[in-house]
Formats: sequence, structure tokens, C-alpha cells
Amino acid sequence: MTSLSPLDPAGVDAAVEAALAAYAAATTLDDLKEARLAHSGDKAPLSLANREIKELAPSDKAAAGKTMGAARGRLGAALAARTAELEAERDARVLVEEAVDITLPVERGAVGARHPLESLQERMCDVFVSMGWEVAEGPEMEAEWFNFDALNFDPDHPAREMQDTFFIEPPSSGLLLRTHTSPVQVRAALERRDALVHQGRGIYVVCPGKTFRTDELDATHTPVFHQIEGLAIDKGLTMAHLKGTLDHFARAMFGPDAVTRLRPSFFPFTEPSAEMDLRCFVCGGDDAECRTCRGTGWIEWGGCGMTHPNVLVAAGIDPELYTAFAFGMGIERTLMFRHGVADMRDMVEGDVRFSQQFGMEI
Ligand code: PHE
Repeated sequence: MTSLSPLDPAGVDAAVEAALAAYAAATTLDDLKEARLAHSGDKAPLSLANREIKELAPSDKAAAGKTMGAARGRLGAALAARTAELEAERDARVLVEEAVDITLPVERGAVGARHPLESLQERMCDVFVSMGWEVAEGPEMEAEWFNFDALNFDPDHPAREMQDTFFIEPPSSGLLLRTHTSPVQVRAALERRDALVHQGRGIYVVCPGKTFRTDELDATHTPVFHQIEGLAIDKGLTMAHLKGTLDHFARAMFGPDAVTRLRPSFFPFTEPSAEMDLRCFVCGGDDAECRTCRGTGWIEWGGCGMTHPNVLVAAGIDPELYTAFAFGMGIERTLMFRHGVADMRDMVEGDVRFSQQFGMEI
């Protein structure tokens, strides 16, 4: 191929015309790119001719520069114009092709819902976390020692019968399904004992989780249920701290008017022990016929007390130096009161419509 001379205006003109024709023929931006590389790329005849100018005799440079400058100008203008046209075409096409009809009906798959016991458990923990307490968890299959012995149940103490227990075969395994979340107290205390004793860091934990008792499933019992239990160990803790904590918790759960009362009771792991009742929020104690509190004006919410010294000793903590309080309540019961769920079976049957009523509360 004979090369194009910058001193050949007719040849340059022909090359420019060829380029303009190729640009005009390009119908896509990709075509145009190809045409541009062919006609004004590094190796294109016009580019090579342009580069030759500097080799020319000084007397020829002006004329060649003029020819080539004009050629470059025409190419540049044509390329810019065609690019703008093709981009506009592409944009218009994309708008049509990629349009989405947002009014079309969608196919919605059924979505699940968080179980209200789960969200309530988190909400309960949050009340304590916001006071600086920690959340502690433990195993559901528990050593009998943690579930009973460490909690001051004598081997043949009748209190062991208080809680109808699922034991794990064989009997010598020493294992059971925990009957309450109290064993987590002992575990949490053991784990935090050094920080308490050596750094003076009080132990403040809540222990939520599943618990198991050999109850038949009916409106107010289920063999698998949930408890949340609290434990505070520090210097100088008294029953007043326990009552204040419970009142705060009750108000966080049931609103600013919630009222609690303690009633003497018995648990092997607390002394003194109490049942904690809530003022009936349906009748406020004014209706002898009230079905919620059965006319008593009070609803039993949980158990509590000052941790028995033997429990502190089991966790390696000196009961002469430290005192502790603990409390525990059922999460199912709390859900029943808070949301007027009349039948516990609704909570375990797994019908998603039950959970959906509570929305996506987190
Ligand atoms: N663990 C007790 C129960 O399940 C509740 C409780 C917890 C009582 C902590 C006192 C202190 O009945």
C-alpha cells in the first residue's frame, strides 16, 4: 500500500471522505469505535501522513500542516457529531428496553415471622443490658449438679420433687434437661468470680432460655418453656435493690403504672425467698369477678430472693463479703399478660399466623 503524503491534498481529501463515510455508516457505538481506530488510530493513513510533516523540507511544512490540520478538524467534528447521535439513540433505546412497569402485580411468597417469645426475650434482656447487666447463656442439657446440688437442693430434699424433671438416660449420666435457668447463675458466677474478687467487678447477669418440666401441654402449661432469670452479686446488696430492680423491670414490661409486691415463699437457693406479684392490670384489684387475677387483684409473675449463702459458696464466693439477689420469671406467662394470649398452646403449635400478629418487632 502506497502511503499517503501530507503534500497530496486530493489523497488526503479522499482519505477524509472515506473516514466520514465510515463514521456515517456506523450504527452502533462499537462500530464507531472500530471506524475511528481504522481512520484516525495510530496506524491509519491520515495519522501516518500527519507524522510525516516533521520529515518534510521546511518550505513544504506550512502547506502540509494546513492540509492535515483541516483534515484532522473535519474528522474530529464528524466523530464528535456521530458519537453524540449514537449515544442519544442508545439512551433512548435503553430507556425503552429497560423500562420497568412498577404497577404490575408481584408474586409474593409467604414470609415467616419472628416468634413473639423470641422478640420478648430480647426485649426483656434489653431492659437489663441498658442498665449495664450482661446476658449469660448455658446449656439446655445440664449437669444435675448445676441444676440442683449447687443450688442448695439436698439430695433427697423434697424441693427436687417440686420440679418434675426430665432425666437423661442412663440415670448414672448425672444429666438432665434443666428445669429452670438458675444453673446458669452458678455458671455465670463461677466464670466471673475472679473479676469480682480481684477487681471488685460486681456480677450482674440475666440468663434467658429454654427450660423443661414433665408437664402436660394445656392452656397454662407446656413441657418446654422459657425463663429469664437475673442474678446480682456485689458488696452490700439488699432486698431493697432486688425490689427496685423488679419494679423497674415491671414498668419496662407493663408500663409506668405497674405495681409489684413480694410475698414470702420458699426456694432452696434463696433465703429469704418471695413470690413476685403484679397488680392486676385488667381490674386494678377492683373487680372480685376479674378472670385475669381471679378476683385477687394480683397476678403471680415470678420468684425471687436473696441468694442462699450455700449457692455463693458453690460458686467460690465468700458470703460473708458479698451478698446477692436473684429472680426468675416465665417468658410465656409474661407474653400472656402483655398481649392477652389466653392459651399457651398457641405459642408452641407453630402456626405462622400467630406470630404474624405480633408484627416484625425486633
Ligand atoms: N428458678 C425458680 C423457678 O424456676 C425461680 C427463681 C429464680 C426463684 C431466682 C428465685 C430466684 O421457679
